[in-house]
Amino acid sequence: MEPERLEIPLFRPYKKLIEITIQGKKFQIPENQMLLRAFQYLCPDTIPYGRYCWNEECQYCRVSVKRPGSQKVTQALSCKLMVEEGLEIHELAEELTRNLRPLFQPAPEETPPGEESGASHGPAPGAQPGGRGSRESEEKRG
Ligand code: FES
Repeated sequence: MEPERLEIPLFRPYKKLIEITIQGKKFQIPENQMLLRAFQYLCPDTIPYGRYCWNEECQYCRVSVKRPGSQKVTQALSCKLMVEEGLEIHELAEELTRNLRPLFQPAPEETPPGEESGASHGPAPGAQPGGRGSRESEEKRG
């Protein structure tokens, strides 16, 4: 017999998305959440695997932030900080930097021409069959 599963919602109830800035880039996240949970909303495939205690002890969720209406950048724990419209996150702890990396990688269609986004085993874009250095051109030369 399978154990009964508790249905605990991941996110606190929210009615709208609000805008925050992470290292200069704007993102929409649900209101009424702790910042670390909002990070999980943005990166559901990485944040759950981070080494976070979610309990104000490990410090792996440390950020420097500027709250709306303030000019002062302060340190905060994202597992304790409630999100606000216009919140600016300036610096991220190493663990967060690693887990939020997908937010700052260009989408495949954004990759500039001539740059490849991943490993490729095929010819370079624009390469012509028999181009310079190919076996075919070697054979024709002699
Ligand atoms: S997750 Fe451990 S201190 Fe915030």
